[in-house]
Amino acid sequence: MSKKRKLVVFIATTLDGYIATKEDSLEWLFKVEGDGDNGYSEFYETVDTVVMGKRTYDWLMEQDLEEFPYKNKECYVFTRSTLKNTEDVIFVNEDVTKFAEKRMNQDGKSIWIVGGGELLHSFIEEKLVDEFIITIAPTLLGNGIPLFKKGDDQLDLLLKGTRTFNQFVELHYEVKGSKNY
Ligand SMILES: NC(=O)c1ccc[n+]([C@@H]2O[C@H](COP(=O)([O-])OP(=O)(O)OC[C@H]3O[C@@H](n4cnc5c(N)ncnc54)[C@H](OP(=O)(O)O)[C@@H]3O)[C@@H](O)[C@H]2O)c1
Repeated sequence: MSKKRKLVVFIATTLDGYIATKEDSLEWLFKVEGDGDNGYSEFYETVDTVVMGKRTYDWLMEQDLEEFPYKNKECYVFTRSTLKNTEDVIFVNEDVTKFAEKRMNQDGKSIWIVGGGELLHSFIEEKLVDEFIITIAPTLLGNGIPLFKKGDDQLDLLLKGTRTFNQFVELHYEVKGSKNY
């Protein structure tokens, strides 16, 4: 696949690899002392397309937000149900490779895979991810929703950089063998 854009995972996790509790709580994340917005707006400028799984979208819609947080981006929500698009999101039930192929050779900024773990697994299985930017919170949860699901999906990564935001550590990896590198 020829690529002009990157598929980037930008996500926060506990040290033991969970992105939410079993009850979908992110309280453990919000209580950590960071620095500014922990690199969020800088990253957000680099993307024009946002992709998430339906459970992450549902979580977002349950929050008391004044407006949809990704209003100025193209936002796709993966679901196996047939749902009517809203003014903010397009629901897609498509093979992830086909989805990526259609977009990766178009001009544009990077595509952000917001999560969660289930949708991410589909992209990892197909070796579609170009970069991981993972922010680690100083927290152990013991159980919850895993960032990475079990499978046979070996990826070799190259460390591109690390940053700290007070109590957070950000790890930035490129995926070796990705067409962009
Ligand atoms: N820590 C963080 O930075 C962070 C970031 C993102 C999310 N989260 C948290 O993660 C949790 C959700 O993660 P999750 O892993 O449980 O779920 P998820 O990946 O957000 O959503 C799973 C759902 O997405 C749809 N889906 C997934 N793969 C698909 C595919 N290949 N094709 C079509 N549809 C697909 C299915 O929806 P249907 O059932 O409708 O078919 C599936 O049930 C939430 O609590 C959220 O708050 C945390």
